[in-house]
Amino acid sequence: MHSARLAIDPSFVVGPVRRGTFGSFVEHLGRCVYTGIYEPGHPTADENGFRGDVLGLVREMGVSTVRYPGGNFVSGYRWEDGVGPREERPTRLDLAWHSIETNEFGLNEFMAWTKASGTTPMMAVNLGTRGIAEALDLLEYSNHPGGTELSDLRREHGVEEPHAIQLWCLGNEMDGPWQLGHKTAEEYGRLATETARAMRQLDPSVVLVACGSSGSSMPTFGEWERTVLTEAYDEVDMISAHAYYREEDDLGSFLASAVDMDYFVASVAATVDAVGVARKSAKRIAISFDEWNVWYHQEEDPIKASGGRWDKAPRLEEDVYTVADAVVVGNLLISLLRNTDRVHSASQAQLVNALAPIATEPGGPAWRQTTFHPFALTSRHAAGEVLRVAIDSPSYENKRFGSSDLVDAVATWDADGSALTVFVVNRAQDEATRIEVPVGAFGAVEVVEALTLANDDHHWRASAEDSTSVLPTSNTTARVEDGTVTVELPPVSWTVLRLRATR
Ligand code: AHR
Repeated sequence: MHSARLAIDPSFVVGPVRRGTFGSFVEHLGRCVYTGIYEPGHPTADENGFRGDVLGLVREMGVSTVRYPGGNFVSGYRWEDGVGPREERPTRLDLAWHSIETNEFGLNEFMAWTKASGTTPMMAVNLGTRGIAEALDLLEYSNHPGGTELSDLRREHGVEEPHAIQLWCLGNEMDGPWQLGHKTAEEYGRLATETARAMRQLDPSVVLVACGSSGSSMPTFGEWERTVLTEAYDEVDMISAHAYYREEDDLGSFLASAVDMDYFVASVAATVDAVGVARKSAKRIAISFDEWNVWYHQEEDPIKASGGRWDKAPRLEEDVYTVADAVVVGNLLISLLRNTDRVHSASQAQLVNALAPIATEPGGPAWRQTTFHPFALTSRHAAGEVLRVAIDSPSYENKRFGSSDLVDAVATWDADGSALTVFVVNRAQDEATRIEVPVGAFGAVEVVEALTLANDDHHWRASAEDSTSVLPTSNTTARVEDGTVTVELPPVSWTVLRLRATR
């Protein structure tokens, strides 16, 4: 058995646990909306057509903000198509996903769904095929109380009170050549700045996210952020980061994906801070990690991915996740928490069916994928302040990073509730790892619960028929002795260790 030691102290504070870390993403992509969150006629659907089984799972997952309506989709979207009487809404081609968009579900349905699910919106404006005027129209329709054409139109559409949407993305992945209306950094920097300025003139309370690079492997990564923020620094609050990981030929590299996420956050922070320093600005731009997940995206070309057909709500990007994928998702959440001083908002991409922790069948069941569990448990138990964990762990060799720690962890400390929670992964494939955590700095401590997600078959996947035979189960090895907590972590596992200080 391997062994590792985690040092934790209440003074190792990184920053607050932010509810915004537990955001998700609903895009008009494949079956995320249609037959995902929305399916009139489904046995569990409410009067709005929202699937009740999915609403229950979203609440159980503890999702905070939900980004909408894209993603690549937003760069060709006309928001007006999705409001007003349904029978008058146009059916259009969605070029981003080579699909048919009926517009049955739009802004007001989404806002009603956020209320039903207990989530808050993160809205994106189209800066691909559209610009400042349309962003202002959408903001006026959404947030202005009344007495103008567009705010009164919302009221005619049955929504008396303004939606008061606070968080807005200024376009999506505008550096990507696949993006409709994609731009150079200079072009986007100017457009984002002017759109932000105009939006604040209409509603000064908005919180604005500029597009960072669509990935750290983009040739323009770094320079894009520098150029965009050189224009937009004073006008925006956050810059976005997107990262997707997948297992290829080397499970060890995949299990260490959080190393890349940490490095990515540090690189974006360094780049944006350099802009701030050059401007002699006291303002600090935060990071909105508004797309992250495991994604087995194989086909870049949407025409090929859709088989060349124009279908309504086609089955696209419906990854079926393994236990190893869930361990990586748990580890990516550890990284996001560890970076809470810089990452103020995050969205797992996406919520239902398309690269998602929740899966559904039309007219049939909804179930939890393996990746559901670490998200739900982290969202439920992370509280108070995030504590950095000093890790003394054996390392292992892998192709991508050379050498990585076998164990990774973060802790949260809720002084009011005396709750100390440790989220920890064991990346070892061969053996269990026994961890020791001296907790004397918290006084006397007892174990409330230890839950571990693991399986001998690291590639076990949930299905409609069996989504419950691999669940996080009680880890009975957890104990406290002489001020030190010990627990054995099975190979390729994710664990939440809940402790309580008793005096
Ligand atoms: O989340 C799926 C897609 O990934 C999004 O539409 C896009 O922004 C990213 O490339």
